[in-house]
Parts: sequence; structure tokens; C-alpha cells
Amino acid sequence: MSVRRLAEEAVQPSAFAFNKENLAWAKKSIAKYPKGRQRSAVILLLMRAQEQEGWLSRAAIEYVADMLSMAAMRVLEIATFYTQFQLQPVGTKAHIQLCGTTPCMLRGAEELREVCRRRIHQEPLQTNNAGTLSWEEVECLGACVNAPVMMIFKDYYEDMTAARLEEIIDAFEQGKGAQVPVGSQSGHRPAAVRCEQSRAKNEGS
Ligand code: FES
Repeated sequence: MSVRRLAEEAVQPSAFAFNKENLAWAKKSIAKYPKGRQRSAVILLLMRAQEQEGWLSRAAIEYVADMLSMAAMRVLEIATFYTQFQLQPVGTKAHIQLCGTTPCMLRGAEELREVCRRRIHQEPLQTNNAGTLSWEEVECLGACVNAPVMMIFKDYYEDMTAARLEEIIDAFEQGKGAQVPVGSQSGHRPAAVRCEQSRAKNEGS
């Protein structure tokens, strides 16, 4: 697990603001919360800021804090706690978050890490030469039943193998990431899904 700090000053933009569309969305989202609970929108707004810029800068964190009348430190605490938030620029086409916790490690996470080291960069949170790909190791992604697991932006890729990771990296590099099916890469269905499907089948018969 890497230490989570704001990016160095050299890459921090001087300002951040939501674009017109995101600003309208943010105001609408904040209004959904009961009076006095608007701060509950903080994670939503941070996610949208990250989607707009590709990562979360100090300026974006302060902007969200201002919008919700929160102390910037409180928003910084949230941004540095959750690994879904990228605190420095990451690959523009894919940022791979590899689960390295015990079940995934026992099922081959270390081999996946070696592929990332070889194909992207030796060190986590560094982009490849083109700035298009990056990777990092994270704690349990909560999908251990299909270990080993990795996440690219909002999508999960499960039952991963080193060979499949090579193919997925190729696809994202070629701008075809959207064509890669998400979820289990081996077709494995979790027991809960199988039960649900079999129940639906029985009810229909
Ligand atoms: S240990 Fe990897 S998803 Fe839980």
C-alpha cells in the first residue's frame, strides 16, 4: 500500500472549477440531501472532479470544500483515505489498480504486478513514456470470490491471469478498452448469481 499524499507542487494546477455541465449536475446532486446534510455529497463531487480532470488536485479538493462549506482538511482526509481517488496524474487511457491482499496474492496477484512493472513502469503511480498507462497496488477490492481482481477507473476485471492482463493492456493502449468485457475474465459466476438465475428459472417453469 503506497503512502497517499498530494502530488508535488510542480504538477498542481493553480485553479479548478467544474465545467458548466458538471456544475449543474453538482448543484442538483447537493440539493438531493436534506437541509444541513449537504456535506454528504462530498464523495460524489470529488469523483466528478476526478472524472473531469483525470485526477484530484489540491485546487479541486479546495473547490469541493468551498462548495460544501467544509474545511479543506476534512475533504483532504477523505481524498487521501479512499484509493479510488488519484492524487497525482495517472495514465490517460488506463490506471490499473491491482488488489494485493491475501486472497488475490494467493491467486496470482504478484504475477499481475510483474506484468505491470514490465509493460507500464517499474514503480507504481508512474506513467509509461506516453503518459497513457499507470498502475498501483491497492487493498482488498471486495470481490475476493473471483480473485485475483483489478480495477480500471470504475470497472472490475476478475479471475485475472498474467496473459489476460497483457491482452487488456494491449486493448487499452490501442484505445479499445471499452470493448474489454468487465467482470470475470474466465466466465466464472459467483454463487449468488447462480442461485438467483436458478431461482428465476424455477419460478418461470
Ligand atoms: S483480496 Fe483481492 S478482492 Fe479481496
